[in-house]
Amino acid sequence: MKIGILGGTGPAGSAVSARLASVGLEVVLGSRTQERATEVVDALIKRWSGHDLALVPATNEVAAQADLVVLATPVEGAVNTVRGLVDELSGKILVTMVNAMVKWGDRVVPLMPYTGSVAVALSRAVPRSHVAGAFHHLPAGQLGDTDHDPEADIMVFSDLPWVTEQVIGLVERIPGLRGIDVGGLGSALAVEALTACLVEVNRRYKTHASLRVTGIV
Ligand SMILES: NC(=O)c1ccc[n+]([C@@H]2O[C@H](COP(=O)([O-])OP(=O)(O)OC[C@H]3O[C@@H](n4cnc5c(N)ncnc54)[C@H](OP(=O)(O)O)[C@@H]3O)[C@@H](O)[C@H]2O)c1
Repeated sequence: MKIGILGGTGPAGSAVSARLASVGLEVVLGSRTQERATEVVDALIKRWSGHDLALVPATNEVAAQADLVVLATPVEGAVNTVRGLVDELSGKILVTMVNAMVKWGDRVVPLMPYTGSVAVALSRAVPRSHVAGAFHHLPAGQLGDTDHDPEADIMVFSDLPWVTEQVIGLVERIPGLRGIDVGGLGSALAVEALTACLVEVNRRYKTHASLRVTGIV
């Protein structure tokens, strides 16, 4: 399966791209410009030397032609990015890892989109795609650490059981990660908002903490 990453040049998108490529998946790292994508892929291949990364730099338009697409832009660019790719994304799973947060003085707090969540806004923008969510709580510093596997549970949501199953399968290709089905798009607000707490935890404890759900065997 070929995975496309929209906004793949940032810390989150580049870490997820390299990590998925490191487990043998073919990944197309997308950007608004081909030059920036090439620059980031070159740097990732150097950083992940010793891994045979199948990582290709491309524009977001080309990355959106992959079989499954991950959205890793900041919240302010999320809806417009996918709106311009409605045809490319049609019929496909679109995994959002986009959080809605704002700086409030020196704190980070959740931002509530008028649609209730970013994921719902995306599902309205690309109604022919299957929107799912994953990776919201996994800091790029942990995902992109070339010396250690990440250690976290990844909350996965979507309105279709087969989509959730496929996204959990993708998550669990990465050693150290377990996918947890947290429900439909109605859960997106809680998942997206919780990230603001984790950012504050990471700031206070100077770490790259993520989440584990207990009681599930
Ligand atoms: N950073 C983390 O640890 C982390 C962890 C989990 C989830 N997330 C979520 O993942 C998303 C990306 O995080 P990030 O820290 O990697 O963000 P970022 O560096 O701010 O942005 C990622 C990429 O998105 C593109 N971009 C920037 N502004 C854009 C706009 N207005 N429209 C379209 N594309 C734009 C840029 O790529 P080009 O200029 O190359 O197009 C940029 O490199 C966020 O929504 C964040 O909440 C982040």
